[in-house]
Amino acid sequence: MLAPWHSLSARVLDSGNSPFETANGKDVWSYAEKNPGHSKLIDEAMACEARVAAFPWIHGIHFDLPYVVAVGAKVDGVENIGGDMFECVPKAGTAFLMICREAIPGDKGEVIIVQAVVEEDKKRAARFREVDIRHGFSVYQGKKKINSFLSNMTKGRNLGNLNLSLLEMIFCPYIMELQQRLCPSRFRFGVFQVFKERSTEMGDLKVRGKKEDEDEDEKAEVEIWNYVFGYVKIAVVKCAIELGVADAIDKHGSPMTLSQLTTTLKCQPSRLYRIMRFLVHYQIFKEEPITKDSIGFALTPLSRRLSRHGERSMAAMILLQSSPVTLAPWHGLSARVLDSGNSPFETAHGKDVWSYAEENPGHSKLIDEAMACDARVAVRAIIEGCPQVFDGIKSLVDVGGGNGTALSMLVKEFPWMHGINFDLPHVVAVAPKVDGIEYVGGDMFVCVPKADAAFFMWVLHDWDDEECIQILKKCREAIPQDKGKVIIVESVLEEDENDKLEFVGLMLDMVMM
Ligand SMILES: C[S@@+](CC[C@H](N)C(=O)[O-])C[C@H]1O[C@@H](n2cnc3c(N)ncnc32)[C@H](O)[C@@H]1O
Repeated sequence: MLAPWHSLSARVLDSGNSPFETANGKDVWSYAEKNPGHSKLIDEAMACEARVAAFPWIHGIHFDLPYVVAVGAKVDGVENIGGDMFECVPKAGTAFLMICREAIPGDKGEVIIVQAVVEEDKKRAARFREVDIRHGFSVYQGKKKINSFLSNMTKGRNLGNLNLSLLEMIFCPYIMELQQRLCPSRFRFGVFQVFKERSTEMGDLKVRGKKEDEDEDEKAEVEIWNYVFGYVKIAVVKCAIELGVADAIDKHGSPMTLSQLTTTLKCQPSRLYRIMRFLVHYQIFKEEPITKDSIGFALTPLSRRLSRHGERSMAAMILLQSSPVTLAPWHGLSARVLDSGNSPFETAHGKDVWSYAEENPGHSKLIDEAMACDARVAVRAIIEGCPQVFDGIKSLVDVGGGNGTALSMLVKEFPWMHGINFDLPHVVAVAPKVDGIEYVGGDMFVCVPKADAAFFMWVLHDWDDEECIQILKKCREAIPQDKGKVIIVESVLEEDENDKLEFVGLMLDMVMM
């Protein structure tokens, strides 16, 4: 399920298939049919979310694709039927979840839809409808299938007194269209909040009491979704960087309307709208009035950091951490804790991260640029916070100095220092050259160039204790016995309980596993 996220920006640009198809070669249901393990995962995941209270007077028909029904748990009183809802739905008093006018009685049939409500603000919703009501966005089925579903359902039918009850509704173009086509005037627009403390027409849905442990449980019921969809935030932010949303607004110099952004970025409007809605919700971008009648998207301090340019850009770091190469090892974290086998990176890619980078210049560039993002911020803090550390140092070797961003800032600030940027040969070979800095390629486990002081920033955390001792011994040989200095810049855990960045240190610790 993670692989499709890498194609989110292509989806917004409307280039090609759905992200799932791009990543896996077929739509999600065909994929599941061919991969029973994944199908089981889907079924079990969805079963977690089944919240149907027991209504024993109802005869239930569980209808799904044949391969799903074949392996589904058999429950007394529930009939299991396999089929394709685009062709036919079995007859029943209430068709749970899926609308099928054909299957239910014309006079008293009822359709109950359970969906997430995304947007209840009608003004905002209206703007969206203006943008592109016809473009149903469904990662799984796509517009074509949804449209054929709609027309098969509504073609030449007497809709009678059909009641549509929505338990929760997503603001989704195809459901709005469904509403219009099925029964524009009769549509019972009931949004029943399953999870909120409101009485509902379904009456039987239980409302919790107010005891503390129940409060905590309720909080957990909400919070757990941050983990279910934990990857979505980084995927959408990565998509915004790839599309260049922050750069476009920055270049424009003032807030941009959706239509301006759509034209500038050449995106599919409703998809870009949904991306922006998400980013505004998380206050990564904000909405600001442009005229009396129009609203635009504006930058915030956070979205400025998503720009690819500028002193404070963190775009490259986000692109590195969300790249398929960096994400793949996470699937091996539990094996790492069980201590079974190699490091997760080696398990995923067959070699350690630095050998991989040597053979993949694109990934090596991503690492160098990501580290440079951080260096621009961290070195500024070092220069302002502890300049005295560099007093009396005539030459400084930056061990594992990457593309030299840190050293160039230090040498500029302390011009009496001669700088040596030392890193693996493939890194030094492509580093941009700066006057006053010497570039040396080599292996710090073999030899470190001689200097008054050695500087290590975000290097030692990559190695275990034994390896750090080896590196530091080489360092000892490189600096003068009497006045040599080693400067280490690292994240320190459990040092200061008021450390606002402690969570970053803890996350970095996981990265290093
Ligand atoms: C996490 S990066 C830190 C880069 C830089 N110090 C910074 O903070 O921007 C670690 C660096 O160590 C370098 N490195 C890894 N193994 C090395 C080795 N055996 N000898 C020298 N440098 C090495 C990598 O190429 C990479 O540039």
